[in-house]
Amino acid sequence: MTERCQGDTRPRTGPRARTAIVLAAAALLAATSAAFLPGTASAGTTLGASAAEKGRYFGTAVAASRLSDGNYTTILNREFNSVTPENEMKIDATEPQQGRFSYGAAEQIVNHARSRGMSVRGHTLAWHSQQPSWMESMSGSALRSAMLNHVTQVATHFRGQVVAWDVVNEAFEDGSSGARRNSNLQRTGNDWIEAAFRAARAADPGAKLCYNDYNTDNWTHAKTQAVYNMVRDFKSRGVPIDCVGFQSHFNNDSPYVSNYRTTLSSFAALGVDVQVTELDIQGAPAATYRSVVEDCLAVARCNGVTVWGIRDSDSWRASQTPLLFNSSGQKKAAYDAVLAALNNGTTPTDPPTTPPTTPPTTPPTTPPGGSCTATLQDSTRWGDRFNSQVTVSGASNWTVVVAVTPPQKVSNTWNGSPTWDSSGNVMTMRSNGSGNVFGFTTMANGTWTRPVVRSCTVS
Ligand code: XIL
Repeated sequence: MTERCQGDTRPRTGPRARTAIVLAAAALLAATSAAFLPGTASAGTTLGASAAEKGRYFGTAVAASRLSDGNYTTILNREFNSVTPENEMKIDATEPQQGRFSYGAAEQIVNHARSRGMSVRGHTLAWHSQQPSWMESMSGSALRSAMLNHVTQVATHFRGQVVAWDVVNEAFEDGSSGARRNSNLQRTGNDWIEAAFRAARAADPGAKLCYNDYNTDNWTHAKTQAVYNMVRDFKSRGVPIDCVGFQSHFNNDSPYVSNYRTTLSSFAALGVDVQVTELDIQGAPAATYRSVVEDCLAVARCNGVTVWGIRDSDSWRASQTPLLFNSSGQKKAAYDAVLAALNNGTTPTDPPTTPPTTPPTTPPTTPPGGSCTATLQDSTRWGDRFNSQVTVSGASNWTVVVAVTPPQKVSNTWNGSPTWDSSGNVMTMRSNGSGNVFGFTTMANGTWTRPVVRSCTVS
C-alpha cells in the first residue's frame, strides 16, 4: 500500500486503478533497468571507475622506474584514476643540492597520469625523512628559510597539476606523549608546520593542502588526538589546511581498528577533507580492505583511497604481501573485496531481469561521420559536487562533447577518454571500449546548472 501523509489531497484510487498503476510502474522499471544494464555492467569493473561513480578517486603510489614495465602500466592505466609519486617528489629527489631543483622523475609520473585523465597527489614538501644531506645538516633560521624556499619552489613548479599536497608529513611522535616529533624542522620552532602551509597556499592556491601521518588511525591513540588538536587549532586560527591524510599502513603492530570510521568522520567534522593516502595491509585480508573502503565511503568528506603500490613486488614491504595484486599482476581476493565495496556490495555483472527486446546479433553500423544520440542524466549529488551519466545510442565508436558552466569544473570521469578545450569547460569524451555509458563528476563551485550535451558524432 502506498503510504499517505497527512494533508494528502490526491484522489483515492480504487483497487483496479491501483493494480494498473502498479503494473505500469513495474513495466517502466523493467524497461529502465534493461536499458541501463550495459552501462552499469561496464562501470563497476575497475577501481577507478567504480570510485568515480561514488564521487571519489582510487589511487596508487607510482615509481617512475617502473613505468617501463608493461605489466605494471597496464594495471595502472586500467584500474587507477589518481597517482602519488612514491619517492620522486620528496625533498632529496627534488632539491638534491641546495637551490638546484630536479623534477625529471616527478614530471614523468605527472605527465603519465595527467595525459590519461588521472589526478596527482603531491608527496611531500616538508618531512624529517628523505632529506638531502645538505638539509639534514642544517638547523635554525637557515633551515627554516631553506624549508620554506623548498615548499615555495616545488609547489610553484607543479602549480595547477597537483590536486592535493602532503605539505607536512609525519610531524608527531609515536606513543603516548602526543608531542611533536623531535626533528631538525621541529627545532626551528613549533610554528614550522603552519609556516609551511602558508608558503604552500601562496605558491599554489588551487591545491588542497594536507597534513599526512601514520599511526593516526585509532581514535583513542594519543598521536591521533594530538594531530586532531593541531588541525582544530589551525582551523580556528585560519591556518590554510584543507585535508588530513591517513597513511594507513596496517600490520600486526599497527592493526586496522573498527573506530577508524570514527577517526575519519571526527576529522571531517573539523571542516577538512580526509584521504586514505598510503594503504597497505599485511597479508592483504579481504575483509579488512573492504572495511577501509566502506569506512571512507561512509564519510562524505573522504575523497578517496590510495594504495601504496600496485603489485606485492612493488611494495616497500613486499614480504608482507600487503597489496591488491600479486607479483604477477593478478587480482587478489582483496581486490574483489575492494571493488565490491566500491560498487556498494552489488555485483556489477548481475544478469538482466528481463531479456533485451532486440537480441544483439549484429553490431550497429553507423557510417563514419554519422551521428549518434547522447542523453545526459543526473546521478548522485553531494554538498560540493554531482555526478552525471551520459548514455549513447547509435554507435560504439562515439565522440560526445559536453559543456559545464564556469566556475564548475569536471574533476573525474569514467568509461571514456576525455580531452578538454583551453577554457577547461568543454569536454570531448571519446569511447574507450568500456561501453556506451560514461560518467563524470562536476565540482559545482556554487553553480548547480546541469551540464549540456553539445554533440554526438561517430568517428
Ligand atoms: C617509502 C617508500 O615506499 C620507499 O620506497 C622509500 O624507500 C621509503 O619511503 N610513509 C611515507 C612514505 O610517507 O613516503 C613512505 O614511502 C612510507 C611511509
